[in-house]
Amino acid sequence: MIIDTHCHLDIKDYDNLEEVIKNMEGNYMIASGYNLESNKHVIELVNKYDNIFGTIGLHPSDVTEDYESDLLFIESNINNPKIVGVGEIGLDYYWEKDNKELQKEVFIKQIELARKYNKTIVIHSREAILDTYNILDEYLGNNKAVLHCYSSNIEMAKRFKKFNIKFGISGVLTFKNSSKLKEVVKELNLSDLLLETDSPYLTPEPYRGKKNEPSYTKYVAEAIAKIKEVEYEKVLEITTQNAISQFDLNI
Ligand code: NI
Repeated sequence: MIIDTHCHLDIKDYDNLEEVIKNMEGNYMIASGYNLESNKHVIELVNKYDNIFGTIGLHPSDVTEDYESDLLFIESNINNPKIVGVGEIGLDYYWEKDNKELQKEVFIKQIELARKYNKTIVIHSREAILDTYNILDEYLGNNKAVLHCYSSNIEMAKRFKKFNIKFGISGVLTFKNSSKLKEVVKELNLSDLLLETDSPYLTPEPYRGKKNEPSYTKYVAEAIAKIKEVEYEKVLEITTQNAISQFDLNI
């Protein structure tokens, strides 16, 4: 069994979403919401498909001054048994630089929301790793967290290990120029890692340049097996257990 712990299954991105989901038969996906519209779609998906869990959250690039209604929607759906986390949430200083304080405020409020309902948080952090670290240090407590699509270095990863956290490894690992991420995977334990695609983005080799989909999670697992010099099956077994425990999946 394989679990894609972070994917986006928007209708606009796929000609045939049914088929993309069917390609994961026997396996599991965690669909990640990022704004009101996508959160609503995630709720529809988890209610319809047994093998789809979801997280709902307000992404830093979708933050506006009147974010309260977005947070109300998240809170009113957080007790859906198939909603296993608050995310993706966090900080993005690559696309949005002018509203850092607002991003931090909304990130903190969603961490507090997750803690109130004992839900895992799924973090997006781009060019903001130190601020992300400092906010977690102050607000996360012992709550479970996932650093989705981890892209920082091994030194930072080691600092994050003081939290109850796992590192989402994406198809970037299959790229030729991913030496920093390869070092992270080499140095961390398999028990620290989760598999993810971040579909429809970040398509792994050998499909780079095409549209990503959850069934390509296997290429991430293969790359990890190679780097860690362990059996592919072993990577699946341990990362599946990691995902089940970090998101309390009822599988
Ligand atoms: Ni994402």
